[in-house]
Amino acid sequence: MCVPERVLTNDDLAAILETSDEWIKARTGIKERRIADEGETAAVLGVRAARRALEITDILPHQVDLIVVATSTPENIFPSTASMIQHWLGASKAGAFDLSAACSGFVYGLDMAAQAIKSGSIDTAIVIGTETMSRVMNWQDRSTCILFGDGAGAVVLQAGERKAGVLSTVLRSDGSGFDLLGIPALGSPEIRSKDGLHERRLHKMYMSGGEVFKFATRVIKSSVLESLHKSHVKLSDVKLIVPHQANKRIIQAAARSLNMDEDRFVTNLERYGNTSAASIPIALVEALEEGRVNDGDYIVLIGFGGGLTWASSVIRWVIPHPEGRVVNRYREQRRRAGYALVSLRTRWKRWLKALQRLNPFARFRPEDFDDPDEFDDYYDVS
Ligand code: ACO
Repeated sequence: MCVPERVLTNDDLAAILETSDEWIKARTGIKERRIADEGETAAVLGVRAARRALEITDILPHQVDLIVVATSTPENIFPSTASMIQHWLGASKAGAFDLSAACSGFVYGLDMAAQAIKSGSIDTAIVIGTETMSRVMNWQDRSTCILFGDGAGAVVLQAGERKAGVLSTVLRSDGSGFDLLGIPALGSPEIRSKDGLHERRLHKMYMSGGEVFKFATRVIKSSVLESLHKSHVKLSDVKLIVPHQANKRIIQAAARSLNMDEDRFVTNLERYGNTSAASIPIALVEALEEGRVNDGDYIVLIGFGGGLTWASSVIRWVIPHPEGRVVNRYREQRRRAGYALVSLRTRWKRWLKALQRLNPFARFRPEDFDDPDEFDDYYDVS
């Protein structure tokens, strides 16, 4: 996982908006969130999270066959954030694509990757949820901007002998609620009208919070039970539920409706807020780091959000090295050398272009065109 260092507290927000730490904590459970710096885009946070996941699983970038990125805040409509991450990882044999399912995107992506592995079409995949929600906030809309934060989480999936990994998934959508929350893009008629509730702006998020709240509390229980039924796993055998981190009250309502102790739900929204597609993988990684998941444990992921979409997965977690991680220094060095090589290649291309500029006989000069390589200075991949 990777979260930006910059912290924005409720008190910081209260200094610029008519709100208070008490209101935000009581209504959402959120105390602070992380905000990306200028050079930290969705791809930058995503590649940092992916490198960490490869390090933990001790997998080399060229072993990766597929990179799926769930995000609502990509750098571009195309090229995909996934392709940028593929480049910076040096994952030379991987296909890469972005997936749009808002806060459910990570669970959707996990299912796509798991199905590709089960079919035998690929062996190893990385699934990443990464967001820079701070860039799409309307910072005047106090009922929405207080909720969101930036970050990324990643997992590696690999074919194996044991009956484990993603056991079942339930994916759902109800597009009749498409106008309850969203981020209008260029093709949207929404940015040319007012609906009386929101003034909708290009690339700025709007949300009818109350409606989304009701929808979320309605679908969580049925979705979790359906995915458990599909995988023949009992609720009592589930070690942890990792829900989308939207609002503490939604998680509490889910625990009550499933008749489960709240401490079996992973929550970290007090520190990160709602990081949309990144919230589930970040919470999952933190639960692993805290030792809350052991080899063979059943866990359930549940996401919900714009679309409307919702999705749940039952997972049997197997730890790559249950006997204790043996750090393979050689592979670690290979990974690092690979990342350094990617950065060198990028610099080399830039030098070549600079040399071309000096050539007085060149028919076309690089400065006659937009130079995409200049952006490499912008992205802070380190
Ligand atoms: N500070 C102070 N007062 C506020 C704030 C604020 N930041 N925001 C709203 N209020 C006020 C409202 O104006 C309203 O005042 P009024 O009664 O005088 O009109 C009052 O507080 C109550 O507002 P509600 O909207 O009813 O507050 P609610 O308890 O529903 O909380 C919230 C709002 C936090 C947005 C909640 O509805 C929520 O969490 N919804 C779910 C969001 C969610 O789950 N999103 C997930 C999907 S995200 C994705 O897919 C990208």
